[in-house]
Amino acid sequence: MANVTVIGAQWGDEGKGKIVDWLAIKADVVVRFQGGHNAGHTLVVGDQTYKLSLLPSGIVRGTLSVIGNGVVFDPWHFRDEVAKLTGQGVDINPQNLQVAENAPLILPFHRDLDAMREEAAGAGKIGTTGRGIGPAYEDKVGRRSIRICDLAHLDDLEPQLDRICAHHDALRAGFGQPPIDRQRLLDDLWDIAAFVLPFAKPVWLTLNQAKKRGDRVLFEGAQGVLLDVDHGTYPFVTSSNTIAGTASGGSGLGPSSVGFVLGIVKAYTTRVGAGPFPTELEDATGQRLGERGHEFGTVTGRKRRCGWFDAVLVRQSAAVSGITGIALTKLDVLDGFETLKICTGYTIGDQTYDYLPPHAADQARAVPIYEEMPGWQETTAGARSWADLPAQAIKYVRRIEELIECPVALVSTSPEREDTILVRDPFAD
Ligand code: GDP
Ligand code: IMO
Ligand code: MG
Repeated sequence: MANVTVIGAQWGDEGKGKIVDWLAIKADVVVRFQGGHNAGHTLVVGDQTYKLSLLPSGIVRGTLSVIGNGVVFDPWHFRDEVAKLTGQGVDINPQNLQVAENAPLILPFHRDLDAMREEAAGAGKIGTTGRGIGPAYEDKVGRRSIRICDLAHLDDLEPQLDRICAHHDALRAGFGQPPIDRQRLLDDLWDIAAFVLPFAKPVWLTLNQAKKRGDRVLFEGAQGVLLDVDHGTYPFVTSSNTIAGTASGGSGLGPSSVGFVLGIVKAYTTRVGAGPFPTELEDATGQRLGERGHEFGTVTGRKRRCGWFDAVLVRQSAAVSGITGIALTKLDVLDGFETLKICTGYTIGDQTYDYLPPHAADQARAVPIYEEMPGWQETTAGARSWADLPAQAIKYVRRIEELIECPVALVSTSPEREDTILVRDPFAD
């Protein structure tokens, strides 16, 4: 079975949504397996722009779309996003969209706690998306979650409410907040259950049946490897594992189904939220990257921090996630730069490193070692074949391949779906 797992190889926003949408034409099912509506995936198809946070990007083409058990699921956001996309003419129904019955819910008090913690952290805040992702994952691991399947058993919810409310009421008291209004929560759950339950399915079964038929599965990662809770720039990370291996545990399909691991890599680097970023440019060049790349967050509208391509980090991401090949996106944003820099190592104190060590303080004082390349003055925007790329742009791509020790499978040259160069078909591998 030729499956593909798409993951971000930097700090998110690499263009995963565009690539998943482009690949979805070849897939029978598209699966989200971690994260939640902290993601923001933008698809541009002709004159329409679609912004998805929780729904798999395959839904825009009408491909069977699955939200796996590894996702934390805000049912109210789900209803809003379905309504928004339906309003844009996307056909969404329980036949083409399934949600794992065993996925944990994000509830309003998770969002409250996310906000209270961030506020209390002051200068030490993570800069989360404020959507309750971390607290919802904590409850999952703490075995307190209310899950989608519980929506079909709300008459029996009292013991579970006792457990989760006892935990959260103590935390809320610490922040000077009143206890959870249990009756209101229950009323809200009754209200939303009717909308969600028709989509709730044993998706592990759906996916294993698809596997038996030889269907092609396209896994859609959210965030990026540098935001992975184990392998990322901890504690400035999200609360899930964002690496390709999570596709298996987060969906109920075994590890051999992960297939071709396609790492999505921006031709430079961005980050939204706090935390170390060795190649960050807080000067006119960084400003220019942000303006040319329209680097504003889809979810929060925050300005993304911008910097040069960091080959050290992407090589590390490719290694820890077993990336087979990359899709290099936003090459067009580099058009017109006189000189381009690529980070090939760091100095931290009096030591040099060819990887990023794990300690936050070391990461914060890592000074990049750069090599320089001439840029190109021609435009790559909208290029759809390798032959359309200027010689110097090809050299840049080839140098990146060498430094990250991973081949390029796709190159993206604009937000538009079809402005994509196919070098090696991930589904054909
Ligand atoms: P995701 O979270 O990885 O799906 O990425 P986002 O959608 O948050 O951010 C990527 C942004 O870049 C979106 O606005 C895309 O429309 C846009 N984009 C994707 N690929 C390209 C590209 O090759 N060139 C340009 N200029 N923009 C792109
Ligand atoms: P996509 O899928 C970029 C970042 C937040 C913050 C950290 C923790 O669009 O690439 P969280 O709300 O998850 O607890 O926030 O992770 N973050 C993202 N940054 N793209 C994303 O998703 C992100 N999802 C979370 O900015 O730094
Ligand atoms: Mg995004």
